[in-house]
Amino acid sequence: MNKTILCIGAGYVGGPTMAVIADNCPEYKVIVVDVNAARIKAWQSAVLPIYEPGLKAVVERTLNKNLFFSTDIVAGIKAADMIFVSVNTPTKTFGAGAGKAADLQYWEKTARDIIEHAENDKIVIEKSTLPVRTAEAMHRILQSNPKGLNFDIISNPEFMAEGTAVDDLQNPGRVLIGAMETESGQKALQAVMDIYRHWVPEAKIKTTNVWSSELTKLVSNAMLAQRISSVNSISALCEKTDANILEVSAAMGMDVRIGPRFLQASIGFGGSCFKKDILNLVYLCEFYGLPEVAAYWEQVVLMNEYQEKRFVQNIINRMFNTVAGKKIAIFGFAFKADTGDTRESPAIYVSKLLLEEHAALRIHDPQALEYAKLDLADCTGDISYEIDPYKAAEGAHAIAVLTEWKEFRDLDFARLHAVMEKPAFIFDGRNILDHPKLFKLGFNVYPLGQKALSNLGH
Ligand code: UDX
Ligand code: ADP
Repeated sequence: MNKTILCIGAGYVGGPTMAVIADNCPEYKVIVVDVNAARIKAWQSAVLPIYEPGLKAVVERTLNKNLFFSTDIVAGIKAADMIFVSVNTPTKTFGAGAGKAADLQYWEKTARDIIEHAENDKIVIEKSTLPVRTAEAMHRILQSNPKGLNFDIISNPEFMAEGTAVDDLQNPGRVLIGAMETESGQKALQAVMDIYRHWVPEAKIKTTNVWSSELTKLVSNAMLAQRISSVNSISALCEKTDANILEVSAAMGMDVRIGPRFLQASIGFGGSCFKKDILNLVYLCEFYGLPEVAAYWEQVVLMNEYQEKRFVQNIINRMFNTVAGKKIAIFGFAFKADTGDTRESPAIYVSKLLLEEHAALRIHDPQALEYAKLDLADCTGDISYEIDPYKAAEGAHAIAVLTEWKEFRDLDFARLHAVMEKPAFIFDGRNILDHPKLFKLGFNVYPLGQKALSNLGH
């Protein structure tokens, strides 16, 4: 093996990315390290720490051949020529920029680990999403090493989405690599391009300067989230006017300049990236004295919160203005389908609001129940978790669909209706069910941004 790659951080980004690199680059040795020993152990086991379609097969093909998971960060740093850093960069909860700016303490800690243990020059690659010009600060820290070593910083943000991570990594729309415009920076750029050239066509590898690359990552997520908030805002208007958001989205999306994707109205976007990255962008704009630009992007997050609240308010209004003591079956807790991840899931917010109204919750999700329990651990009230959807619906007054799991479409709704209290309500927060069919079965159906199908006169 002629090159050793290290990745610091074995999370949702580091794990799948390195598995796909190892799979495509058999002559590279890929080591993934993490401070979390349980996570490392899980990567080496039959049950991976994250649920991601197709990932298991990739890990099985490469594990202990050219893909290694370890907690020995020091040995990894010493061995590697290239170090990817994919540690978490959560939103700061304290001090200046609290609630908006990125908390870079984990990133800086890895930079300091690298300085302490490196024995030769290295290429350090930012995979975590970082504020613009972080590379500059990191470069300064790294170059301050007393050993006279040279460190090149490359920005190579990840664009994969959860649930489709393996396919996104294997067939990326683009690979973005930002490098410094120095001779050594350009050499480092070529070394990182060499990795991706193993399976990504040259035309899809976009190179830029470091700052453009860092900013592109933030803005790509902000633009995607902005589409969802735009459509969600219009879903509210549809409910007032009898326009149908599905028809509006489909017709709008036929304009090639708009395109059909990411126009699905929902209870709101979740996930570890969108909110965090937009707030990070907002903070940057404020920092650089651009309050109008900051306010523009902040509205995307505010609209998302409005949509979550609006969904709960609609449940309360439709159920005769009270949910106190009523059982509500929550179908789906993950922030999107095909993942067990619940970070920033709208389901957390919706569940908490319903509990505040003294509803009893029966939560069902095919993959995310363990995280759901942790997310609601501090909540008091009547909550239980059911892997069987029919059990979750037993004695329930309503079903609220919060995640677009395909399997929800195939449920036996006549059976669900039979075990529920009457009148039985369905609130489809993802517009995935066959609403006329449910209405025929006797449900009162409340989709998003579409006419309600109800026998209750509202
Ligand atoms: C996102 C970006 O898509 C990805 O490029 C980046 O690397 C990480 O952040 P992810 O958060 O994993 O990926 O999932 P994504 O598919 O973007 O969905 C985010 C949220 O938006 C989910 O809650 C999803 O349900 C919601 N969504 C998405 C909608 O509500 N409507 C849509 O039309 C699309
Ligand atoms: P992401 O979705 O960005 O991959 P995760 O939280 O899933 O975020 O993963 C980040 C990982 O980085 C975690 O497993 C965490 O334990 C690890 N990590 C954080 N700081 C360090 C550090 N200094 N050294 C090694 N690993 C770290």
